This record gives sequence, C-alpha cells and structure tokens, in this order.
Amino acid sequence: MKDIFDEVQFSNLNLNSRIIRTGTWETEIEEGGFLTPAIYDRYEKIASSGTGLIVSEIFALDHKDRFFPYSANMNYRGFIKDYQMVTDIVHRYDVAILGQLAFFYYDDGVNQKAEANDLTLKGIRKLQAEVIIAAKKFSFAGFDGIQINMGNNFFLARFMNPYFNQRTDNYGGNTENRVRISSEIIKVIKKSMDMHVSCRINPWDVRKGGITADESIAIASELEKAGVDSIQLTARTISQIYDRGKKHPFLGYVDDLIGAVDIPVVIGGSLREMSKINDVLNNSKVEFVSMSKPFVAQADFLAEWKKNGEGKAICYSCNNCYSKKTSTCFKHE
Ligand SMILES: Cc1cc2nc3c(=O)[nH]c(=O)nc-3n(C[C@H](O)[C@H](O)[C@H](O)COP(=O)(O)O)c2cc1C
Repeated sequence: MKDIFDEVQFSNLNLNSRIIRTGTWETEIEEGGFLTPAIYDRYEKIASSGTGLIVSEIFALDHKDRFFPYSANMNYRGFIKDYQMVTDIVHRYDVAILGQLAFFYYDDGVNQKAEANDLTLKGIRKLQAEVIIAAKKFSFAGFDGIQINMGNNFFLARFMNPYFNQRTDNYGGNTENRVRISSEIIKVIKKSMDMHVSCRINPWDVRKGGITADESIAIASELEKAGVDSIQLTARTISQIYDRGKKHPFLGYVDDLIGAVDIPVVIGGSLREMSKINDVLNNSKVEFVSMSKPFVAQADFLAEWKKNGEGKAICYSCNNCYSKKTSTCFKHE
C-alpha cells in the first residue's frame, strides 16, 4: 500500500513524503526584490510539516516579462543571499527545493517578443545561455535543482507546440526538433552542475493542431533522453472543474506517461483530501502528487494530516489567490 507520507526516492533526491508543494508565487516581495519575513515563515511551515519537495515560486528571465509583476526577480543584488536563507531553512528539515524558471516573452535582442518562428539562431543561443546562467544562480543560492516550466502557455511550451512552431531548421518540424532548444539546455546543465532538472509540461493542448496526449508522452521521452530527472504535469487553473467530485482528468493519461518513461512523474490539481490522494496512489501508477492552493490557505496543514492519519484541506478552490495574484488566502490567512 502506498501512503502520502512514505519516504521515497525521487530520482537523486530523498523525499520525506510523496507531496510536492508546487510552484506558487509570493507577492509579499519588497520593492527591489528583497524577501519579507512572511516568506521565510511560510517556507519554514511548508518544510517542517511533512512536504516531500518544494518548488519555488516562478522566476522570470526578464523584468519585461508578462509574469514579472508577480514573479520573483533573480537579477537583484540580494538574490543569492536571500534565497540561501530560504534554502537553508528548508534544508534544516531535510526537504529539497527546486527553483522554478518560467518566462512568457523572450527578447532576442532584435524582437522584444520573439515567437518560435522568428527567433534567430543567435536568439536561440542567447536564450539557452540565459537559462543555463539561471540554473547556475539557483545552484549558488543552494537550490537542489531547477524546474523549467515548459507547460501552460510559457515560451518553451509554445516553442515545442506545432501550432506555434513552423520552423524549417533543426528547431522545427518533428517532436525531437521542436524540443531541441530545451534538450540542449538540459544537456549542458546536467553536464556542468550537480542539479536536479525537472520540467513542467502540458499533458495536451486544447488547440486544433496543437500537442496531443501521445505527443506530450513523446516530449517527455525526449526530455528524459536529454537527462531530465523528473516531469511534472501542469494542472492549469481549471481546478474547480475537477473539484466537483469527478475523477481527476489526467489519471488515464498519466498511467501511459509513467509507463513510457523511467523518471518520476508528478500530477496535481484539485487534490484536497488525504484519503482521496491515497486512493489515487493505490489505484494508479502515480507515486508523486502536487498541491498549491491548500498551502496558500494553510502553509502547515500537512502536519495535521500526518498526526491524524487523515485530513481535508481547508482550501475550497475559490481560486481567488490565483485571480488576484496574491500568495495569501483572503478567507483563511
Ligand atoms: C496563487 C497561485 C500561484 C501560482 N504560482 C505558480 C507558479 O509560480 N508557477 C507555476 O508553475 N504554477 C503556479 N500556480 C499553479 C499551481 O502550481 C497549480 O498547478 C494549480 O494551482 C493547480 O493546483 P492546486 O489545485 O493544488 O492549486 C499558481 C497557483 C496559484 C493558486
């Protein structure tokens, strides 16, 4: 029998549970980027209460990015010092933490909002170098790895999507080519630093001519070939839809995905109750699950679940935290 509080191996990382606190932005960052005490406290509560792995909030590459107003800045002078404190706090509880990088726009020096089709080869190299430097910065700050978000509608998701990418060079065409911009980055990171690399990907795309469930499995295999250590599926924010007592929409698909790769796969979205999560674990190949909003509502709720052997998150998925771009719950905290 699998249980959420099993101690488990997650590629090169030892986890104290199967629960991943997935990427969740913090909005209490001070002007200039500096972290507030509330953020350190929240990380401590999350790490000390039974979480297996933490994915940080989103860091954008550039201050012109659409996500920048509510994503964190890794280009301020206190970044390494501030986040060394975050990673130290988390490591005190033997919990691993990944820094999440996600960017929506890319300025290739010619075009401020270059898209897959018009990114020059020089632009590709510049982008790859910037992501590799970001990984290095995360490693200096004590993160155990990097999660590159190539899901949702982020730049690398669009780049690998045939709906957006009609390039005729080595970076367009078949799946391998559309993933190449990311595979090349991953190969360099894996070769040059001791960092876990996780990729967040979409299970499928709703656009006609976009990525199918079969192709996303092929994408995961390409990423695995490049050296990726784990895959996390995006859950988008339609979580209310699958809250209404329905079966999690990724379950059939995820068993196929897990069967196709040899690296850990994380699913999440609308998971709120310990018994239901254990049901998912014991009735599928799923071994790792993620949660975001329950931690916004109560950062240390897992301690109660662990103590009582059962529990239900107080978050009722109103999604206000997401819509208002806050990291706090208007109802509970
Ligand atoms: C307040 C808030 C902030 C979020 N920030 C991020 C983020 O920085 N990076 C990311 O990949 N996803 C982010 N998400 C999406 C979550 O990681 C997650 O996929 C989504 O909320 C569904 O999971 P849940 O039902 O457990 O909340 C955020 C979600 C919320 C509600």
